[in-house]
Amino acid sequence: MRISVIGCGYLGAVHAACMAGLGHEVVGIEVDARRRRALAAGRAPFHEPGLDSLLAREVRRRRLRFVEDAAMADLDAVDVHFLCVGTPQGDPEGSADLSHLDRAVEALAKVLRPGRRTLVVGKSTVPVGTARRLAQRLAPTGAVLMWNPEFLREGFAIEDTLHPDRIVYGLPEHQDCAEYAKQLLDSVYAPLLGEGIPRLLTDLETAELIKVAANSFLATKISFINAMAEVCEAAGADVTVLADAIGRDSRIGNLFLRAGVGFGGGCLPKDIRAFRARAHELGVGDALDFLEDVEAINLRRRQKVVDLVREKVPGGIVGAKVCVLGAAFKPDSDDIRDSPAVDVALRLHEAGAHVSVNDPKALPTLAREVTGLDLEEDLETALAEADVVVLLTEWEHFVALDPWRVAELVSTPLVIDGRNALPRARWVDAGWEHVGLGRAGVQTVLKA
Ligand code: UDX
Repeated sequence: MRISVIGCGYLGAVHAACMAGLGHEVVGIEVDARRRRALAAGRAPFHEPGLDSLLAREVRRRRLRFVEDAAMADLDAVDVHFLCVGTPQGDPEGSADLSHLDRAVEALAKVLRPGRRTLVVGKSTVPVGTARRLAQRLAPTGAVLMWNPEFLREGFAIEDTLHPDRIVYGLPEHQDCAEYAKQLLDSVYAPLLGEGIPRLLTDLETAELIKVAANSFLATKISFINAMAEVCEAAGADVTVLADAIGRDSRIGNLFLRAGVGFGGGCLPKDIRAFRARAHELGVGDALDFLEDVEAINLRRRQKVVDLVREKVPGGIVGAKVCVLGAAFKPDSDDIRDSPAVDVALRLHEAGAHVSVNDPKALPTLAREVTGLDLEEDLETALAEADVVVLLTEWEHFVALDPWRVAELVSTPLVIDGRNALPRARWVDAGWEHVGLGRAGVQTVLKA
């Protein structure tokens, strides 16, 4: 099928490459020249495992191309348009900024030929009610709009796009339009549906809400375990053992129960804020007030790391040499949007510490966006003479570090494990003081 993907940021670039990989003919529309040039050359503009090779292959096969705007895309021949533009936070209250989406729809409306029925599929995360408004805008063009939210995780984006847990179709009310939309998107996703991936049919509003509800639930689960970490710290207990024990109850489940410096990234933080803002507009703000606590718990964990440095480093925080391991909001990503690691590093810097940061992928992005931190590409140089090592992103090669070798480099064998990811017994054996988050009880357990 002939497909256009409007907006080739994280979601769109992956979606475009995966749709081409399924055999469709895809044109990606991307206004950012730097990003577009990289994509057109078959290179991913951000770090995502597997994406470079998929893009290179599909661009070479000429199944995938990228253009600047809708007018250049020969959209007449396109069967399905995917809306994948970003919906970042728009104001301090948290409302989503829909200007990119509105501009994309306006541009599309201008080039669609009235009288020719086409399908427009929204994938961006939007406040409930947006799809219905956009459908009205597109109605005069003859386009049918449906919403098909995307649940991909960075680091697993290709796997999640091609083998999602479920596919949600938010369909228009009109029976004939709904049938048309369903059949066309079924053809696009035929290989996925053939694998037996469940497809849920619903209305536009439910589809929009499914996405934000899922992200709110995930954020709540992380903040729940981080709240338990706070209690464990006060009570002398170990949150990692607690999480393991409660997670074995299949009603609870052990995923998203890793206590640490909490959630960040381009989705969870802004999505829960936008959801709260939208609920207030709808007059049901009270229903989502708990998300304010979810965010407050999340931010408290960042400050906790700074407090631990202040408390544990013998000479105090001012002038202390702190080696921060990690800048990306999670491993296997170079994304530093709302990254807890970057926030903690900046808080340490503001508190007077000398902070050197090492990250295998995120340093170039960090160099463009922050000042005051010492960005160190060489891990051993970053560790040299450190008064404290602070792990904030659990990249595999940080987790696998040899604590005996690291002890030779630093000035004090003190590590704050902000992700509870290091093998604690090994670090303790190598002579380190290992401080986890929410792990006040573990020393006693180890001695027993
Ligand atoms: C998330 C959703 O998972 C995905 O479905 C949605 O489409 C986009 O937002 P992503 O932002 O890629 O995906 O990251 P995710 O893997 O969900 O992690 C989010 C944050 O939570 C990271 O900062 C991660 O370090 C943190 N996290 C995750 C924890 O602190 N503890 C956990 O147990 C799990």
